[in-house]
Amino acid sequence: MNRGLNRFAIVVACATFFLIIAGALVTSHDAGLATPDWPLSNGQVFPKMVGNLFWEHGHRMVATTVGMLTIVLMFYVLRKEKRSWVRKLGVFALLAVVAQGLLGGLTVKLMLPLAVSSAHATLAQLFFCTTVSLAVFTSRSWIEARPIEEEQGVLPLRYLCTAALVTIFLQLIIGATLRHSATWDQQLPTELVLTHIGGALAVTIALGSATLTVLRRHKDEKFLTRPALIALLLLVVQLSLGIAAYVTRLASPNDPQPLNPMISITVAHVACGALVFVSTIVLTLRTYRVLPRRSALRESFLQDYGIRQDLHVNPE
Ligand code: HEM
Ligand code: HEM
Repeated sequence: MNRGLNRFAIVVACATFFLIIAGALVTSHDAGLATPDWPLSNGQVFPKMVGNLFWEHGHRMVATTVGMLTIVLMFYVLRKEKRSWVRKLGVFALLAVVAQGLLGGLTVKLMLPLAVSSAHATLAQLFFCTTVSLAVFTSRSWIEARPIEEEQGVLPLRYLCTAALVTIFLQLIIGATLRHSATWDQQLPTELVLTHIGGALAVTIALGSATLTVLRRHKDEKFLTRPALIALLLLVVQLSLGIAAYVTRLASPNDPQPLNPMISITVAHVACGALVFVSTIVLTLRTYRVLPRRSALRESFLQDYGIRQDLHVNPE
């Protein structure tokens, strides 16, 4: 394990989280078109950071920093990492951040169309997922993890966690579409709000059952219970923030400009959504690391009952 590489991957993941907050501040301030050009801002490399330009250009600056950190991370991974799939993930992270930067520029050039702005918001979450995964794969706890037994005849935990992860990702896409469908001075479309509430219910059921199953089946395995508890706690915070975001967005069209608490609550909802997502990713990756595959479960079942594998594979 390379401690330096792991620490640097953690720094890049934290910087990405900060970038997501900076991006959400652009949207909540309705500052996306503070400057209509890109890659320059109002024809300048560094404009005066006044009014909404503070948020828009500030976001570009943070994005540039994260882009540069990702380049360094990729070279660091290529130099120090032996596992080829981790090396590939390092290259993928760079490709993802470049694509994300281009989508950011495109959404400005095209004047914030719903599809491009929502894609920019969604790819941000996927990029965050990539940097967090790099931090997980290079960590000591991942490399030194030992297999854990799972009871037979039960629904494998990895499937429960994967289902929760997919549900959350779909909910993030619905959330991004909802958020970019109406600016602060317009009411949110009811059908999308209802879809998002349905999504929240699905996430609560999927993530609730995955995390509670972890806590019930593996209560002494901190490697699994820690991310499960964090994900559960964040889910509760996210649901409360969602309700608060809805209430403040109902009132915001009557305001003269985007104001607090709407700005802070909607930004917190985006940020906490990202945290729910990555804590579930950590949990899911860890279940894949330490719990047996279904075929391994089947093999041990057959062995327990003294059934020879080769009889099944080749009856002759
Ligand atoms: C490279 C990494 C980048 C990441 C991870 C990132 C992330 C984000 C995030 C999370 C949001 C908030 C979405 C939301 O609140 O729904 C956002 C908004 C935004 N970003 Fe980026 N961004 C990046 C680069 C850029 C670049 C280079 C630009 C160039 C102009 C840009 C322009 C914008 C704009 C204009 C918005 C507001 C969109 C709207 O209000 O519809 N982003 N970004
Ligand atoms: C598991 C639960 C939830 C998750 C993971 C989640 C996630 C998200 C995300 C990530 C966004 C913004 C996406 C982006 O632009 O990048 C969003 C937007 C939004 N969500 Fe949720 N959400 C959840 C539950 C709720 C609930 C229960 C409500 C209550 C009605 C709600 C109300 C909203 C509203 C109103 C917006 C748009 C905010 C705006 O216009 O600025 N969410 N959600």
